[in-house]
Amino acid sequence: MNKSTTSKLSRRVFLKWTALSGLSAAGIYLLDTYTPWLNYDQETLESLKMIPTHTDAAVNFKEWVYYAGLAASSHNTQPWMFEIKQDEINIYPDHTRRLSVLDPQGRELWISLGCALENLLISARAAGYDGEVIYPVKTDVINIRFASRASQNEALLDAIPRRQNTRCEYKLNPVPPDHLHLLRAISLEPGINLHFALDAHERTILTECVSAADVYQYADQTFISELNAWLRFTRKEAIHSRDGLYTRCSGNPEVPRWLGELFVSGTKPQQQADLDIRKMDHSAGLIIITSETDDKSAWVRTGQVYERLALSMTSMGIKSSMLNQPIEVPEVRAQMQNALAMETRLPQLLLRFGYAEDLPRSLRRNINQILVTPAPATI
Ligand SMILES: Cc1cc2nc3c(=O)[nH]c(=O)nc-3n(C[C@H](O)[C@H](O)[C@H](O)COP(=O)(O)O)c2cc1C
Repeated sequence: MNKSTTSKLSRRVFLKWTALSGLSAAGIYLLDTYTPWLNYDQETLESLKMIPTHTDAAVNFKEWVYYAGLAASSHNTQPWMFEIKQDEINIYPDHTRRLSVLDPQGRELWISLGCALENLLISARAAGYDGEVIYPVKTDVINIRFASRASQNEALLDAIPRRQNTRCEYKLNPVPPDHLHLLRAISLEPGINLHFALDAHERTILTECVSAADVYQYADQTFISELNAWLRFTRKEAIHSRDGLYTRCSGNPEVPRWLGELFVSGTKPQQQADLDIRKMDHSAGLIIITSETDDKSAWVRTGQVYERLALSMTSMGIKSSMLNQPIEVPEVRAQMQNALAMETRLPQLLLRFGYAEDLPRSLRRNINQILVTPAPATI
């Protein structure tokens, strides 16, 4: 065999292999995407539903934990465990689910627990129970003791399964003044405040802060690796783990993991910043939740106020989404605090809000996966 025949042969073999691997990659992707037995929308209907309220206290406790588990959490890590006792519930942090790069202090972890606490208290009130909370000052637990009282119509209950972080661009319509007035008037927690940034000057400052933080984070390979680990690129991954950030919930398509990771890792920091600037420009307004101190109790109370605010917006048909990168990068957080003359008030969460259609909802783990001692499932 001469040299030209050998090279033709190897070229042919090479092309054959390339075609074969291309075809099998496409086949795996199609199978993964169009698998009728993996019905994501059906899973979300099951995972995020209203459940009938019972009068039997033991069952009630499980219902409240179910609603607590539908709360917001950083990267949808759901970093919580619940312990049901005689007349109390303990919420513990699951430190194995903390984002060690994004959240080294556990600040967002405790805010997530505060979000869950708020849903728990709302559903308990709807069933006729008041919860007295002991905040985690020196301990690593939130303790809630319940006492019965007359059940009252808890308006925010049915917003719990409908609330979502809607990450698309919003319509340009403003939120009417009467709705803004209601949002400004929601009850707060001690030490927690809302800062509405509606005028052009403050919006520009915040846009610059988000942009600077995006550039910082997307240049950091450890941030990208952690993000990739919590991204769910296909419905199969999302349904299997029932946590993390499923791409369709952010308005992005499903892709095989290798392609998704390649795309995320290849995102230029400025590209990400431009994307977020556009989203901020397509929002009716921005809200910063601030606290007076930076400790576990303040973080839990921040989460409670966020959940209350987001549920109130949901019940008014207003969408919201978080953009916390300027608070996650300490230097940018300090710049933001100075530029907005916040003095001693510390930014904890940044939200944008406006009007948009729903995006697919993110899944939650089953109740038995978040109970310290799993009880037989009744819901
Ligand atoms: C403390 C905290 C920080 C968050 N930060 C962001 C953020 O910076 N950007 C974002 O898009 N979503 C953020 N989220 C929203 C979560 O990703 C979201 O709650 C989770 O994926 C579950 O989705 P859902 O809220 O739509 O149910 C944050 C949530 C919490 C509680």
